[in-house]
Amino acid sequence: MSSHAYGNNGPSSRGVVTAEPVVAVTSLTKRFGAFVAVDDLTFALEAGTVTGFLGPNGAGKTTTLRVLLGLAEPTAGRALVFGRPYQELEQPARLAGAVLESNDFHPGRSGRDHLRVLALAADIPPSRVDEVLDLVGLVAPAARQVKTYSLGMRQRLGLAAALLGEPELLVLDEPANGLDPAGVHWLRTFLRSFADGGGTVLVASHALAEVAQTVDRVLIIDGGRLVASTSLEELAGRGQTLEDAYLQLTTEAAS
Ligand SMILES: Nc1ncnc2c1ncn2[C@@H]1O[C@H](COP(=O)(O)OP(=O)(O)OP(=O)(O)O)[C@@H](O)[C@H]1O
Ligand SMILES: [Mg+2]
Repeated sequence: MSSHAYGNNGPSSRGVVTAEPVVAVTSLTKRFGAFVAVDDLTFALEAGTVTGFLGPNGAGKTTTLRVLLGLAEPTAGRALVFGRPYQELEQPARLAGAVLESNDFHPGRSGRDHLRVLALAADIPPSRVDEVLDLVGLVAPAARQVKTYSLGMRQRLGLAAALLGEPELLVLDEPANGLDPAGVHWLRTFLRSFADGGGTVLVASHALAEVAQTVDRVLIIDGGRLVASTSLEELAGRGQTLEDAYLQLTTEAAS
């Protein structure tokens, strides 16, 4: 993993060009008809960090993540991963893994077969399938059809798929949704060690207490606009809890 993406190696030192931020979102706007879902959003993520992406229902989190992953076109501005639009990455599965709101699983396929198909398509060795099944705790039900999986099992399968290519960036939309307490604990520990190893995580969540235990920074959006970009340390320095800041800065959904 690129733990030195933020080194001081400018073009003048040994010819190494300074790395781009892992994620760079610049003046991103996404409209659906006249409705503005994401409004002039700008942020950047550094390697080796976990960033919580917070905001009320309908704030524009999933829309932002979808644009970042090339699943929706920006109306204006841009969203780059490793310096490029996602669609232009040569081996996207090896750079960015994602779990979005709706996981698309073939219901009749087993969990293992689902991962095998993805691995084949991304040129990832089949041996990695059993590694990720083990990592997310899905070895026992791996041979069962996905339609028989519980919510938490589906969530684990989504995570396994995101991890297949040993990516450097993880983009997760409510990843703890449906996970049992042991699963949530595993996820928190996993994300921390992933970032400590140089990986980068962007995680949309409503679970503020969980976020406060896991992330380095938070981005808070409301009505598609960025209302805070801060570290938990800065908040603590101001004597604010994450919940205080969140409730102060956001309006109630659908108000
Ligand atoms: N394809 C679409 N067409 C029209 N409106 C859309 C579409 N996708 C999203 N929206 C609208 O954009 C806004 C932002 O939605 P988005 O799903 O990004 O919110 P969110 O922050 O992820 O919310 P939640 O916390 O509920 O997941 C919402 O008002 C939603 O209705
Ligand atoms: Mg969402």
